[in-house]
Amino acid sequence: MKILVTGGLGFIGSHTVVELQNEGFEVVIIDDLSNSSEDVLKGIQAITGKLPVFEKIDLREKSAIQDFFKKHSDVTGVIHFAASKAVGESVENPLLYYENNIGTLVYLLQQLQQKPEASFIFSSSCTVYGQAEKMPITEDAPVQTAMSPYGNTKQIGEEIITDTVKVTNICAILLRYFNPVGAHSSTEIGELPLGVPQNLVPFITQTGAGLRKELSVFGNDYSTPDGTAVRDYIHVVDIAKAHVIALQRLLNKKNLAKVETFNLGTGKGSSVLEVITSFEKVSNKKLPYKIMPRREGDVTEAYANTDKANNVLGWKAELSLDEAMASAWKWEQKIRNK
Ligand code: WQD
Repeated sequence: MKILVTGGLGFIGSHTVVELQNEGFEVVIIDDLSNSSEDVLKGIQAITGKLPVFEKIDLREKSAIQDFFKKHSDVTGVIHFAASKAVGESVENPLLYYENNIGTLVYLLQQLQQKPEASFIFSSSCTVYGQAEKMPITEDAPVQTAMSPYGNTKQIGEEIITDTVKVTNICAILLRYFNPVGAHSSTEIGELPLGVPQNLVPFITQTGAGLRKELSVFGNDYSTPDGTAVRDYIHVVDIAKAHVIALQRLLNKKNLAKVETFNLGTGKGSSVLEVITSFEKVSNKKLPYKIMPRREGDVTEAYANTDKANNVLGWKAELSLDEAMASAWKWEQKIRNK
């Protein structure tokens, strides 16, 4: 069974390729290398002993996608990670996001609809919930007006897939990630943020490594126990394993709806200060930080109700925040000592 993983050299994509190969799937990766490097292939091979087939393709080129599916006509399962994902950048350059995140999704689905059957897993995000009313957040929490073009592309993407599966032989699963963090225990693959990290955990590990002077904590006046915002930080390996389980669910086709949605989180909320404390514990270092004003567009809290993923998908996060922070720190030290 050959599986296409778009964005397979990215942070979550590469960890998912490892878990797919561990389960015996043959993987072909499409990546445009805009936010990753071909060296990641070596990291994957170092872990699994298998070098995935890789094709450098810009998914905005419709003809390139058509050629790909002609060449790999035996691909009937797709895990679609490839997308632009920087919230701030999406505000400055919305059309880049609508073209790259929506246009490419349409081209992929146009290829899959020609097949007698196809399985499609979509990388979505808890960002579709905005600031949910009730914690923990269930999958039927209302999808709020997106806080950014990036978040909007995830909402629109879900709607496109939902409309398409109704009239094609495609079955789909939408996975709404909370906050993926950490790195593979081998330190062969991990997060490679470009430039100044926008996300909390890579900024923390770069500060710990001395690349950044101090962490800015964006706001301590939220209505949370310690005043800093709360998120559901989930180990990227747990996220990756969920993709394999979701794919197997689609391939087994047992009492499947045409499209299903699952939250991928630990079910536990952690504040920014708690993440800092976790880092200090696992690294035995004091993390310099200063309290700054809130960041535009941030929500106060977001953590997952994981009952559906646990009971229907049959998946549960196994790794703790400390384990995630320890793996992120080990990875940071590895890439700094290269
Ligand atoms: C987490 C918390 C910040 C940096 C985003 C996307 C989401 C998903 C994950 C792709 C917030 C605070 C951060 C810093 C800080 N991405 N923070 N100082 O915003 O929850 O989610 O990344 O799918 O779609 O929206 O993650 O890591 O940026 O922030 O205080 O230097 O850490 O204010 O409270 P976020 P994050």
